[in-house]
Amino acid sequence: MASKSILSAAIVLVHAVCAAAVPLNQAATGTVAAAAPPATFTPNPNVGPGRGNNYYTDSAHFRLYGASGTQASASLNMLEAAYDCYINTMGWRSSGLSYNSATDDGPFYKVNIYSVGSLGGSAGVMHSDAASGLAWLEVLPDYLANPWITVHEWGHGITYAERYWSATATEINLRKIIGDSYQVLVDGSVNTGNYYEAWPFLSYITANPDGYVGLGLTAVRDMIRKYNRGSNETPLHSLDRIATSTTAQAIVARYWARMAYVFLQQRDSLNYANLDAQGNAGTYKVKRARQPRYMGANVIPLKKSGAVTVTAKVTANKAFTATLSVRNTSTGVTRYVDLVNGSGSTAVSADEEASLVVVNTPASLILFDPFSLSSDVQAGLDYTVTLTGATA
Ligand SMILES: *[C@@H]1O[C@H](CO)[C@@H](O)[C@H](O)[C@H]1NC(C)=O
Ligand SMILES: *[C@@H]1O[C@H](CO)[C@@H](O)[C@H](O)[C@H]1NC(C)=O
Repeated sequence: MASKSILSAAIVLVHAVCAAAVPLNQAATGTVAAAAPPATFTPNPNVGPGRGNNYYTDSAHFRLYGASGTQASASLNMLEAAYDCYINTMGWRSSGLSYNSATDDGPFYKVNIYSVGSLGGSAGVMHSDAASGLAWLEVLPDYLANPWITVHEWGHGITYAERYWSATATEINLRKIIGDSYQVLVDGSVNTGNYYEAWPFLSYITANPDGYVGLGLTAVRDMIRKYNRGSNETPLHSLDRIATSTTAQAIVARYWARMAYVFLQQRDSLNYANLDAQGNAGTYKVKRARQPRYMGANVIPLKKSGAVTVTAKVTANKAFTATLSVRNTSTGVTRYVDLVNGSGSTAVSADEEASLVVVNTPASLILFDPFSLSSDVQAGLDYTVTLTGATA
């Protein structure tokens, strides 16, 4: 499934989680650990075009061809830090293990990285060697010590080592993720899609600020491991499986509710124009072009004056989840009020702000290909809102 393309972005972007986490290899998980890997992995010059090339620099888990000195050490130090984070702390399968190996017992090989002069417009590329089942990377010299390239490409390597999914590439664009939040959560459409930008969702399920059972540090890894192998199900189906106390729909809805107050520095430049006022005061209708599509959302900042009670009633042509996201403007602390069947209210004090968040959450998850969106995931949620105590 192409929506796996957002995976490695999240892998690169959850470093902060590592800093605070208990290393999985120290946690009492009750599972039987595989044999401990050696401190230094075995070189494998047959992976990639390395054979006969004696210009390289080694670290414990990597071999960097075509670089030496501080350039090589800067790159390798960064990769080793990433290795420690993702493998030792977060518990991903080691990039030293073969894709083809049924066990995690080894042998363990270094990942080969090649410094190359040209990559046809890319700064880095991850390859897989089918015979050995190992990932290898090519990176332009100027990007060897740039984690957005080298660690990112290695991120593809570890999702490859997890075996059941594969992944491609990523970057960040806040105007897209917030301003076009109505789009299908992962949309691979050429030029208009968001699949490079959708990574905050994976950061959300990894950081797990709402404490959902089954999510957290290992969520993305577990989505791969619990994927129904060989099936065409989407990562949201797998998410629904690992989240044992709630649904993928509820998780997506709360993610969008939280996105109401992320990236505040840029919000003045983001497009929140989702509704048109109707004839009756306090009544609004979603703009046709902004109707939330499958697992997409509208974030609607509300205007109010002083302390008020905000009441919202959302009615729609099909299933949705609506939430009032409320933020204390002094402390930044947020709270979330579920609108049961689309209706609810909350007292919003003078030092708080509120947003209405409406998400297209069908009762059943949909099988879809993000690179060829079907009409069922593209169908918008047509809804009307009535507000008191605030305006949209
Ligand atoms: C918002 O935070 C400030 C500072 O801690 C606090 O005094 C105030 O009571 C908070 N407002 C609400 C509605 O909780
Ligand atoms: C929400 O709607 C469902 C289906 O119409 C209904 O069974 C349920 O009682 C409603 N819940 C509330 C709190 O109104």
